[in-house]
Amino acid sequence: MYANRLLVMLCTAAMLYSAPMPRLQKEHGVFQFLVDDKPFIVLGIQVHNSSGFPAVLEATWPLATRLNVNTVEIPVQWQAVEPEQGQFDFTLVDGLIAGARANHLHLILAWFGGFKNAAMHFAPAWVKQDIAKYPRMIDRSGQPLRTLAADSEATIEADSHAFAAFMRHLKQTDGDQHTVIAVQVENEAGVLGTDRDHSARADRLFSQPVPAEVLKAFHKEAAGTWTEVFGAYAAETFAAYYQARYIEHVASAGKNELALPMFLNVWTDIQDGFYEPGFSHPSGGATTRMLPLYKAIVPSIDWISPDIYKHNYVQYVEEATPYNRPDNPLLIPETGSDLTFCRSMFYALGDLKGIGVSVFGVEGNPVSNKEAGAIPEPLDDLAATYRVVSQAEPLLAEAKNHGKLRAAVEQEGAATAVLDFGDYEAMAEFGRMNYGYGGARAAGTPRTSGRVLIGQTGPDAFVVAGFDSAVSFRPRYGSSKTHADFVSAEEGYYEGGAWKPLRQLSGDEIFFGLRLPAQGAVVKVRLMQY
Ligand code: DGJ
Repeated sequence: MYANRLLVMLCTAAMLYSAPMPRLQKEHGVFQFLVDDKPFIVLGIQVHNSSGFPAVLEATWPLATRLNVNTVEIPVQWQAVEPEQGQFDFTLVDGLIAGARANHLHLILAWFGGFKNAAMHFAPAWVKQDIAKYPRMIDRSGQPLRTLAADSEATIEADSHAFAAFMRHLKQTDGDQHTVIAVQVENEAGVLGTDRDHSARADRLFSQPVPAEVLKAFHKEAAGTWTEVFGAYAAETFAAYYQARYIEHVASAGKNELALPMFLNVWTDIQDGFYEPGFSHPSGGATTRMLPLYKAIVPSIDWISPDIYKHNYVQYVEEATPYNRPDNPLLIPETGSDLTFCRSMFYALGDLKGIGVSVFGVEGNPVSNKEAGAIPEPLDDLAATYRVVSQAEPLLAEAKNHGKLRAAVEQEGAATAVLDFGDYEAMAEFGRMNYGYGGARAAGTPRTSGRVLIGQTGPDAFVVAGFDSAVSFRPRYGSSKTHADFVSAEEGYYEGGAWKPLRQLSGDEIFFGLRLPAQGAVVKVRLMQY
C-alpha cells in the first residue's frame, strides 16, 4: 500500500519535473517553436556528415559556445546504430546527448537513414549489399543507381524499424529533459540521375491511375494515369509520391515512440539553369512544386525546410519564401556562415517569420581542430549575429505574435530601407549620412554589414536589434501627427528570460536616429507622436 503510494508520488513528481515537450504553436497566425514552453529561435550549426561521433565532436562543443549557438544539428547514421540487422547500439547517441548537456546546448538529430542526398551511403552494409531484398532505383537506360527504391516495402520496413528503435531510445534517455528538441527525418531525399525509378515494378505502378490522395493534394478533378494528369511533371510527381509515402512510414513509426517535432530538409528546385528533375535537383523531394503533396500526405512531419546556399540575397529569399506557409514555418537547417549569409538570415527571421537557421560545416576539419582556439575570422560575424538575435529573442517572439517583425538589410548600392508598421514607419540607414533634401543619402558601410530586425511590441513600443545602422521613426505619412520621437531607448539584453538593462541611449546615440554599433546592440524603444 505504502509502496504503491510512494510510486504514485514519485511518478507525479517525475511528471511535474519533466520538461514540456518541444512543439510548434500557432498564435495570431504565426508559428512559434516552443522549447521549455517558451518561444525558441534555433541558432545552430550543423556538423559535417561523418562527424556524429562523440570523440570527433570534442572540439565542436566549445566552438558552438563561442559562436553563441543554442542548437547543434548532428547526423545519426543508420549504419552506425544498427550494424547487424536487429542489433542496435545507441552508445554514440548517448555520447552526443551527454556532450550537449555538458555544454548547455540543445540538439537536433538528423536521421541519416535510407536517403541521404539521393544516395544510400548511410544505410547499413546488410542493406547496401542485399540488392535483391533492398532494390535500387533504375535509370532510363536500365542501370541501377546508388539510390534505394522508395517503393520497396522491405526497405521501408527496415528503415522504419531502425528509426523507431532510435526514437524509443531517445524516449528512454531524453524523454524528460528534451536536450533533443527536434529530429530531421532522412536528408535531402529524392533521386539524382533519373527523373523516376524505371524498374519494371515502378513502370507498372506508373501506368496505373493516380491515387486519389495525390489528385486531392493538387486539386485535380479528373482522374487518369500519371502522364494524363501531370504531363511533363508526371515522373517527378510519381517519384515524390513514393518518396513521401516512404518518409511518412518512417516518421510515423518514430513518432509513435516519441512525439518530438520532426522535419524534412530539401534540396529545392530553385536552382540556376534549366529545370530538370533528377538532374537540376533530386526528383521526388519536397521541392516547392511538390510541397502541396508532401503537406497533404506526410502528416507526421511537422515542417519542411529548404537548405539554402544561395549567396545572392534575392535568390536566398526566393528559395526561402515558398516554405513560409500558413501550414509550414520556415526553418533553414543548412546555410552558409559568412557576412552575406548573416545578413540574409535577418530576412528569414524577420520578414519570413522563421523559427531558426543553422549554418553547415563550420567546425572545420574535426581532427586538426582539436583545441578549438580563437574563432577564425570569418565566423566573427556569425558569433555576433547569433549573440544579438538570442539577446533579443523574447521581444522578437512578441513582435512576431503581433505580426510586426521586419528586417532592414543593407545591400550593395542600397543603404536605406523603409519599413511600414501601420501607425509608424521606420527607416534604417547604413553608413555615414549626408543630410539634405531630395531623399536620404546614407553612404553604405565599408563591409556592407548593416542589418537590423525591427519589431513592434505595443502601440508605441519597438525592439530594434542589429548592427551598423541608424534607425528613425515617424508617424505614417499623411496621418494627423507629423513627428515621432524617442521617449526612451534602453539598450540591454535578455539572459535566462530576464531583461538586463545596460544603459539609456540619448544625445548623439539617438539624435540622427538610433545608432546601432558595428558590434551590434539590442534596444527597447518607446516612442511618441506629436
Ligand atoms: C547538403 C546536404 O544536406 C549536407 O548533408 C551536406 O552534404 C551539404 N549539402 C554539403 O554542402
